[in-house]
Amino acid sequence: AAAQTRVDVDLAAETHTIAPEIYGQFLEHLGTQPYGGIWVGPDSDIPNTDGIRDDVFGALEALDVPVIRWPGGCYADLYHWPDGVGPRDTRPVRVNMVWGGTEEPNAFGSHEFFNLAERLGAKTYLNLNLGTGTTAEAADWLEYLTAVAGDRAAERAANGRETPYKVDFLSIGNETWGCGGALTAGAYADLYAQYASFAKTAGDQPVRILSGAHDGNPEYTDTLLGHPYIAGLIEGVSLHVYTLPTGEWSEKGDATGFPEAEWASTIKRTLRMEGVIADQRAIIAKHEDLPDGFGLYVDEWGMWVDQDETKNPPALYQEGTIRDAVVAGLNLNIFHRNADLVKMTNIAQMVNVLQAMILTDGPDMVLTPTYHVFEMYKPFMGAEALPVSYASPDYTLGEVTVPAISLSAARTADGQLIVALVNADARASHNVDLTSFGAKKAEGRLLTAKTMDAGNTFSDPDAVHPVPLAAKAKDKTLVLDLPPRSVAVVVLK
Ligand code: AHR
Repeated sequence: AAAQTRVDVDLAAETHTIAPEIYGQFLEHLGTQPYGGIWVGPDSDIPNTDGIRDDVFGALEALDVPVIRWPGGCYADLYHWPDGVGPRDTRPVRVNMVWGGTEEPNAFGSHEFFNLAERLGAKTYLNLNLGTGTTAEAADWLEYLTAVAGDRAAERAANGRETPYKVDFLSIGNETWGCGGALTAGAYADLYAQYASFAKTAGDQPVRILSGAHDGNPEYTDTLLGHPYIAGLIEGVSLHVYTLPTGEWSEKGDATGFPEAEWASTIKRTLRMEGVIADQRAIIAKHEDLPDGFGLYVDEWGMWVDQDETKNPPALYQEGTIRDAVVAGLNLNIFHRNADLVKMTNIAQMVNVLQAMILTDGPDMVLTPTYHVFEMYKPFMGAEALPVSYASPDYTLGEVTVPAISLSAARTADGQLIVALVNADARASHNVDLTSFGAKKAEGRLLTAKTMDAGNTFSDPDAVHPVPLAAKAKDKTLVLDLPPRSVAVVVLK
């Protein structure tokens, strides 16, 4: 193994809670999500409960999904909620004009979404339609979902739900600099302030999230936050950061069969997340009128490669590989380090779209390597992030040099010390010295694969899966050996 990475941890330092919502999911009407991937309908031959397929539900349940964002994405700005309530056989069929002109049967609507979240024990993150909606439509939707009295509550009850639903998080508009209307920051801020003034729920008010910048236009958020009336209408601002292996939208790179140069450039590009968050932190700090506890919500992130052309474009269906798993681990470690500011993230997306947890094909289901990372990292939800410092060895390929090792640590509510480690080196294993934690042994699980593009397929669904990992202190020194292309989570004992 290559040079050892010594880790220093400050066990007495002030800590920040890792919001469970950092492990949030994103469910957009896009490709075969939700239709096929989540919703099959009560009459399907695929085993289901109230139309939601049981296999996918069970897999999501095992992740303890903390929150789900719905219905988009770009689709949110085309979605009219009345289309998705009432008897399903009378709901209108629309065309998903933003994602390939596929038919949108509206069978998965408000009740189906909120019931799914409730069954999973997940919070709800609703994205209101700013693009083609009105303030009235937005206000009516919230009344329909949450009112305890009046005709809209009665309509909801007649549609099968007497108890109000809970909207935990709310956004108005999406990517308003792009698909959400191509609005200047000033124009969007004016519209947001108007919509937010009427976007009231009965009972507890949701956390309101302004739709902010992407990784290339940080000044957009700066202008938004400078709007004279905005500070009283928001609890957070969002950020979108995708990882494209090449960095080019026209040719992003393939999901599999890619050269090592694209592994290396992927790692480099995904590690930009740290700097992008730092830039947003500096912008947020400038705006002193923002409320206490104001948060950054990375409500879209993940791998975006050239899509599988055998699927109906633009389904944004892509195979998941160990490269994705490494990308997930690197980003989650960055989110842990920024737990004081980052209050939620939503990986794009949950099923069958982009860096999905789960892929389906008819009745079959596959868990991706990214799924396994989310499952392994579960103990970090709600844990206290501990500051760690270390000097990683380099991973160099051609002109690209990146740190090979990434690490984050936390203390769980029951006092256990947990460490997440990533070896992003495509070729070399590396040792990590965890002696400073003062433990006798480390026990946990490791995810790795023989090749850079190995993943789980419908013919070999368990090719990449976590395996046990353990190390004992020798001469009071505790060292973990991380193979190339790996992600590990251990408990220190
Ligand atoms: O996640 C896919 C799309 O990416 C979302 O709809 C949009 O917000 C972003 O551009």
